[in-house]
Amino acid sequence: MKLSEQIKILEFSDLGDERGNLVVVEGSGYDIPFEIKRVFYIYGSDAEVIRGRHANRKSEFVLINVSGVSKVKVDNGREQQIIELNRPRMGLYLPTMLWKDMYDFSKDSVLLVLASEHYDAEEYIRDYDDYIKELML
Ligand code: TYD
Repeated sequence: MKLSEQIKILEFSDLGDERGNLVVVEGSGYDIPFEIKRVFYIYGSDAEVIRGRHANRKSEFVLINVSGVSKVKVDNGREQQIIELNRPRMGLYLPTMLWKDMYDFSKDSVLLVLASEHYDAEEYIRDYDDYIKELML
């Protein structure tokens, strides 16, 4: 499958009014195509840092830069694509078994990650060669 068909750019509703913005993100097939079991967020990573560098056998994710900007490079073993997360209403859906790097964090970047699974170190593939081997099984 093409990488552009595997990932999805999501656009969340803004129910804001004169008091400010209110962005709603509902799980279980509404805005997010999975039940959200885990939320984590990354901030204080500066422009030189590369995070991620792993693939997940079980977890699907949605990434949202609720503040600031960062980039995500996704790789399915055949193609790569760079996506800039630069709006609080924008989400990036990543299915299982994609290699991902997060980098170019702005000073004010807060990268919110919604995950379909609880944390399990065993479902992370942290070596790129192992990832490619597993894709070919
Ligand atoms: P890591 O996977 O390196 O973060 P990133 O997604 O930026 O690559 O995680 C850093 C450490 O935190 C690592 O020891 C695993 C641990 N961790 C948890 O215990 N639970 C979690 O949900 C996450 C994302 C990480």
